[in-house]
Amino acid sequence: MTAVARLDRWIRTEFVEHNTELEEAYFAERREIVHRRPELEKVKQALVAEGSHLIRAVSAAGPLPPASREKYQLLGMVGFYLAACRRHEVTALSEDTASFEDAASGSSAPAHGAGPPGNTASFEPVWSLAQRLGSALGVAPRFVFAHQALYNPAVRDRYQTFTALPDETVFLTSNGLAVLAYQRAADALRRIPPMGVSNPLTTYLLETALSALEDVLRFTQDLGRALDVDRFFFNIRPYFKSHRVGPVEYRGANAGDFSAINELDLLLGLGDTRDPFYQNVIAEKYAYLAPEDQALLRAVVDEESLLARFLREPEPGPRLRRNAELFLAVCRAHGAASTYHHHRLVKPFLVVPAEQAPAERLSGITASGPPLDVVVAALSRLSDLRSARDRPGVPTARAALERLRSLISDPSPAVSPR
Ligand code: HEM
Repeated sequence: MTAVARLDRWIRTEFVEHNTELEEAYFAERREIVHRRPELEKVKQALVAEGSHLIRAVSAAGPLPPASREKYQLLGMVGFYLAACRRHEVTALSEDTASFEDAASGSSAPAHGAGPPGNTASFEPVWSLAQRLGSALGVAPRFVFAHQALYNPAVRDRYQTFTALPDETVFLTSNGLAVLAYQRAADALRRIPPMGVSNPLTTYLLETALSALEDVLRFTQDLGRALDVDRFFFNIRPYFKSHRVGPVEYRGANAGDFSAINELDLLLGLGDTRDPFYQNVIAEKYAYLAPEDQALLRAVVDEESLLARFLREPEPGPRLRRNAELFLAVCRAHGAASTYHHHRLVKPFLVVPAEQAPAERLSGITASGPPLDVVVAALSRLSDLRSARDRPGVPTARAALERLRSLISDPSPAVSPR
């Protein structure tokens, strides 16, 4: 068995057992974390020591795996380990690994998974491997959404998870399905520019995008129904926090780190790279995308939107009108999925339980790091852009969509599909 295979086996077995045991203990107390219970500290120490040993063995075994996909999967595994250390607020100390709180010995150091400088020495080899992998691939040296959803091979029906909790599987599977559906919509839309918006083949592509976005809504609704709020808040969310790799604090993982969502915004014309807010959303995201997603996003930032293309067609013929109707339905479906995410996932699963959380736990509540109200305001703005909901001083594509609507509202009939 290779060193990488041993790490993979551990992540699928003991790693899951340790995390699950800790999560059940935290959940019994309805707390995000429990410190200073000797039997739990032992489990944390075992997790830190076993993972550190196996990851060092991977580094010692020689060169990095040659294939990019294997490198990316290995980065995911190292990232699982670092994310779990961060979640349990432990530092990779020596034999007597202490909890983060103990390590900070009463100092007010932020709980970001890295203790005081003198205590982080034994994380160095793990960080070093993560950094080598990250620089070879051109990505942030931490675990991100794509590692968990898209580069996570199932073995005997199970992909790698942090815990054995059914809610984690529900969360990851629904998230993964929603992302695949977003990708199906983006795959369809990015084929339209070379064909033009009045092409009969474009009708099929818009129908595909519409059905894919309806799937996004369906998968996220399934998630909203099946996921337990407390389990998510206490036992799942904490694995996605910001943490340090070497001297740099990398923001947390979230299900938005894939290019298709932004490709849709830009191709539809609902998001605009001339808008500084939106520019920032994209620029910040690159390092957290898988390499092939970075290329897809770069390819679309300069593309003329479909909305602009519809609006500059000289004579709206029947095919153009049919396609424009479908295009408007695709925009509505994109807005509906985003509105659901904001009001039925972010609010009940994060904002409401955060209101009950002790004040000292609020700082690390979001994946990206900023305070919750800042993150929620940014998500609300994205939801407004996708739904073309104008707010005072914050215009959206609403006026342009209205223009298109009136352009095609000519009484002569649109063609029937295909
Ligand atoms: C319980 C379920 C979920 C919760 C509580 C949740 C919450 C959040 C939060 C708080 C963010 C902002 C990240 C941060 O800065 O901390 C975010 C981003 C994002 N999430 Fe979710 N999310 C959930 C499920 C999903 C699902 C199923 C999808 C579908 C793919 C999704 C798609 C996105 C996207 C695309 C972003 C990036 C921002 C954007 O472009 O809108 N999320 N989510």
